This record gives sequence, C-alpha cells and structure tokens, in this order.
Amino acid sequence: MTDVTDPVPNPHATAEQVQAAFGDPKLANVLYHDWEAGTYDEKWSISYDERCITYATDVFTAVAGEQDQPYPTAMELGSGTGFFLLNLMQGGLIKRGSVTDLSPGMVQVALRNAEKLGLDVDGRVADAERIPYPDNSFDLVIGHAVLHHIPDVRAALREVLRVLKPGGRFVFCGEPTKIGDTYARKLGQLTWWLTTKVTRLPALSAWRRPQEELDESSRAAALEAVVDLHTFDPADLERTALGAGAIDVRAVTEEFAAALAGWPIRTFEAAVPQEKLTLRWRLFAYKLWLQLSALDKKLLSKVVPRQLFYNVMITGVKPPAATEL
Ligand SMILES: C[S@@+](CC[C@H](N)C(=O)[O-])C[C@H]1O[C@@H](n2cnc3c(N)ncnc32)[C@H](O)[C@@H]1O
Repeated sequence: MTDVTDPVPNPHATAEQVQAAFGDPKLANVLYHDWEAGTYDEKWSISYDERCITYATDVFTAVAGEQDQPYPTAMELGSGTGFFLLNLMQGGLIKRGSVTDLSPGMVQVALRNAEKLGLDVDGRVADAERIPYPDNSFDLVIGHAVLHHIPDVRAALREVLRVLKPGGRFVFCGEPTKIGDTYARKLGQLTWWLTTKVTRLPALSAWRRPQEELDESSRAAALEAVVDLHTFDPADLERTALGAGAIDVRAVTEEFAAALAGWPIRTFEAAVPQEKLTLRWRLFAYKLWLQLSALDKKLLSKVVPRQLFYNVMITGVKPPAATEL
C-alpha cells in the first residue's frame, strides 16, 4: 500500500497541465510517467522472468561485484514499475525492498507487480532530491535509468548517502552517456524518418501506422525531451558522486555494438503496426542484441574508450561511521 499522505495517480493530464509541464521537468516527469505507467512494462518488454532477472543481476554485478549479498534491505529511486528491484529480489540479491518514484502511478504498478510475485516490498511516492526515509535506513540504494531525469544529481546522491547505513552501497545503472546519447538519437531520428517515409509507398501500406498514432508518438517524444535532463561523461559522474561524499566510487560503461543496432531496431518497432512484429522477428532482435552485447563485453570493452559506450553505471559506498574507522 502507498502511504495515505502520498499523492494519487493522474493518468489523464489536462491540456493546461501538459502545457505547464513544458517549463517544469518534475511536473513533466509525473504527468509523463503517470500516463505511461499502465502500459510501461509492455512498451519496454519488461518481464519478471528469467530473461529480465538475468539482465538485472548481470548489470548490477558488472558494476558492484558480488560482495555483501544478499543485501538485507534495499530501496529503489525512480523504480518505475519495479523492473530493477523486483528482478534483483527474484535473483536472490536483496531480501526486503522499498520502491519509490516521483510518479504515483508508477509506485502503484510496482506494488501491484511485487504483490503478484509474492515479494516483501513497500512503496512511497518520493522525489529523489528529498527522500522520505530517515537517516541510515538501508543497506543498498539502487536505480535504473533515473539519474538522467533528476534536476540536481549531486543533491540526490547526497540524499542517497544520508538514507544509506554507514558502509552501505548505491548502484545506479542504465544511464545514457553523452556520446552514446548523441549517436542513439541520430540513429533513432533517421530510422523514424526512413520508416515513416518508406511505408507511405502504396505497396507497403500494411506496414504504415495510422497517422493519429504517429502524431501521438511525436507529441509524447516532445514531452520526453523535457523529462530527459542529462547525459553523463563517466569521469564527470564519478566526480559528482565523490563530491556528494561517497567513497570507493566506480563508473563502468556497456553497450556499444548492441546500442548501434538496438536503437534503429527499437525505433523501427515503434514506427510500424505491432501485429507486424512476429515472434520470429522478436526472437531475431533479442538474439542479435545478446550476441552484440557479448561482443561488447568480451572484445570491444577492451579496445573502445569507455565514454563511447551507450550506458553508464555507477557505484559507491557511504563512508563507515567514525567509530568503525
Ligand atoms: C525511465 S523511467 C525508469 C523506470 C525504471 N527504473 C526502469 O528502469 O524501468 C524513470 C523513472 O524515474 C522517475 N523519476 C523522474 N524524476 C524523478 C525524481 N526527481 N525522483 C524520483 N523519481 C523520478 C520517473 O517517474 C520514472 O518512473
């Protein structure tokens, strides 16, 4: 259950609210993610089975290693529908969890997902810059694809360190790098333009999505530009975490070949009718992504500079209390 004082979801924003959101990134985040919450798992192919459990545990251990597991208590910032926390709990890395998100709709869906999976999870609506939990509450704080939405990342990391127990760890994954975001956007725009042009040919009309759906996607993309606030250089992100007071800070990047192929594929999938995406196509896309990710890990991570990869993840630790030093 969400706390009685928490705000309630608002999945149908008025035109005035949407207009106001263009000048207010936090309001934009609430409206955009409340609106997306009910369809988010389907849109991003999020599941709570072996596929996403393996993905979540792999990215977590790639940056944090395997120490101190399972963590007795963990809290997720910007949990969305619970993809990261719930799958890490299912993977045996965390015992008890708390989901938090600025969007009440997302907290509601995350708690519903946790209940269906029989996991021990509570939830709060929370702004990462003012986390509504007391000092020294958690052994682990995590996030996935959330830091780039937060206006003051250093303030949020200071809050993370406040609610962590001394010696506790934070792990944030799935953040866009500066260079990765640039090529991903360009590839996405080019694929969208090409797909929507080519499907205007009469012979390909069955591959064309209705114009009103394409227009809706373009309007959503406009609000998406307001909610996406940052991209990160790995070294700058490490400095931000150190500046917030963390120790043992380490940033790791992943996905180069996988991102160069993945962004055009994802954009193509969004630009054509869903019924055209057969199981065979989906399996092909997934296997290609797995193969390119393996190439990234085994070879390209050794020869390509880390700032060229698409995703950056960061971990760090709250300094032990003075008496433990
Ligand atoms: C891209 S989604 C990622 C959701 C989920 N972590 C995942 O990987 O599927 C970003 C989430 O961060 C939340 N968010 C944005 N700004 C926030 C803030 N200032 N504090 C807490 N959550 C925030 C959004 O509401 C949204 O649910």
